[in-house]
Amino acid sequence: MFSSSTSSIPKVAQIPQHIAIIMDGNGRWAKKRLLPRIAGHKQGLESVRNIIKACSVHGVTYLTLFAFSTENWRRPADEVTFLMSLFMEALKREVNKLHQNNVRFKLIGDRSQFDPSLQQAIEEAEHLTRLNTGLVLTIAANYGGRWDILQAVNQMIHQKPSSEQGYNEHDLMPYLSTHDLPEPDLFIRTGGEQRVSNFMLWQLAYTEMYFTNTLWPDFDEKSLLEAFQFYQSRERRFGRTSEQLS
Ligand code: IPE
Ligand code: IPE
Ligand code: MG
Repeated sequence: MFSSSTSSIPKVAQIPQHIAIIMDGNGRWAKKRLLPRIAGHKQGLESVRNIIKACSVHGVTYLTLFAFSTENWRRPADEVTFLMSLFMEALKREVNKLHQNNVRFKLIGDRSQFDPSLQQAIEEAEHLTRLNTGLVLTIAANYGGRWDILQAVNQMIHQKPSSEQGYNEHDLMPYLSTHDLPEPDLFIRTGGEQRVSNFMLWQLAYTEMYFTNTLWPDFDEKSLLEAFQFYQSRERRFGRTSEQLS
């Protein structure tokens, strides 16, 4: 499984191919303005629009956004309800625009807990945009890294009830919800916290991690370019030595 060949070392591209973002700080953005938390979520949606566009313009191929975690159900019921309706409205309102811009929409997470009308809207958006060849936009909703690994293990064991040598990474990976995405090159978390909060635990193994104090509703194209600059300054060694790379 381990290759000593240097021919497969991925080069640090100028622009990361896959960016995964924890969009955090909506509540604090609103609080600073003496507004209700939901005003921060509404404004956060503007940043989502701007960043999708900026990623398309700058040649990012995959953008994955953490919209709602498996732990976010613990929030006050009215905030959860608001987030669900905001998602539903945004999906209905934006899907045609995404489609016109050649964006492929996908959702990862346990969608079975969503309202049936939201599940249907998600399926329709995925179906409509499935053949698009531009940016792949993945929304992680009711997603948790632990959920993802466990659902993959359960599916793998169901398909292949025993393995004499034990299972390996390549047995599991086809069942992860991200099986058709490359691993993220750049992780961004806005809002100042420096933690992963149960996002893509398996997939972030070798991702470059960028944390910024900028609150998500304030995160714009300029902020994204700053994150790219950070990314371009990294040397990605994947366990090798620096000398092996040159
Ligand atoms: C992120 O912003 C959005 C979601 C989790 C849905 P928050 O709502 O967590 O904002 P803060 O962290 O309270 O400022
Ligand atoms: C992570 O943010 C989840 C999303 C952005 C969807 P949280 O605000 O929920 O994370 P914690 O609770 O501060 O770790
Ligand atoms: Mg938060």
